[in-house]
Amino acid sequence: MGATSPWDPEQYLRFAEERKRPFDDLLAGVTPVPGGRVVDLGCGPGNLTLELHDTLRASETIGVDSSEPMLDRARALLGPGVPASGHLRFERGRLEAYEPDAPVDVVFANASLHWVPDHATLLARLAGHLAPGGQLAFQVPAAHDHPSHVVATELGWSRGLEVRGGAQNVLAPDVYATVLHDLGLTDIDVVLRVYGFELPTTDDVVEWTKGTLLTGYRAQLDDAAYAEFEDEYRRRLVAEVGDRRPYYYAFKRILARARRA
Ligand SMILES: C[S@@+](CC[C@H](N)C(=O)[O-])C[C@H]1O[C@@H](n2cnc3c(N)ncnc32)[C@H](O)[C@@H]1O
Repeated sequence: MGATSPWDPEQYLRFAEERKRPFDDLLAGVTPVPGGRVVDLGCGPGNLTLELHDTLRASETIGVDSSEPMLDRARALLGPGVPASGHLRFERGRLEAYEPDAPVDVVFANASLHWVPDHATLLARLAGHLAPGGQLAFQVPAAHDHPSHVVATELGWSRGLEVRGGAQNVLAPDVYATVLHDLGLTDIDVVLRVYGFELPTTDDVVEWTKGTLLTGYRAQLDDAAYAEFEDEYRRRLVAEVGDRRPYYYAFKRILARARRA
């Protein structure tokens, strides 16, 4: 795949409602910052960045993402008649290298940090972006031990592929709390929550993971090899959990918040 982004906004947004629930919970714990500056790291297709901006009543919100197709989709949300336009912009960049021009009031990252390794170093960097009193809020999947992830990891290893973004970068909730504490942050709140939802069949788990987890494998394979990978993933997953109709997908996530003193 090389230069082409494996992220497909259409596929990702097929489950927009289910993916929004943890975003809503994360945002509910962030205090609005009227007139403040917000960054949304790994902003994806931008629909939630717009909501983040409006809910926090920020004067400036910057969405950062490394995927051009995601950013195209996000930028298409802006324009005449959209009040946030002029206060909200989307930039291409890697979240782990992002450097704000000035300290920010909220660093927000929903379902994106797990694509980057070494979270102790990453969180120290992100905490360094905060203005005094600034808030850090992130949500990451903790589904690395779910069959949907285990099967992908094992299949990837068997093909000599790198495991990317499969929640293997994610720390345990108590470790996150300790890291945030050791960075000198306050008001630390870290929870592990199960976001369960029904899919019509076990097979449909693949439609979910195609929008996220499998992009890490797609990026390493040509079209034919990826098609074969996806077929084998589906076959192994159904063999592992059974052909259930409906299939209840119990997806664990960690939500974390902290504040700079
Ligand atoms: C699962 S989506 C989440 C999108 C959005 N935050 C949401 O909640 O709908 C993950 C996003 O992270 C982006 N991403 C992955 N690795 C990244 C990195 N190193 N730097 C910036 N963005 C990254 C992907 O392009 C994708 O848009």
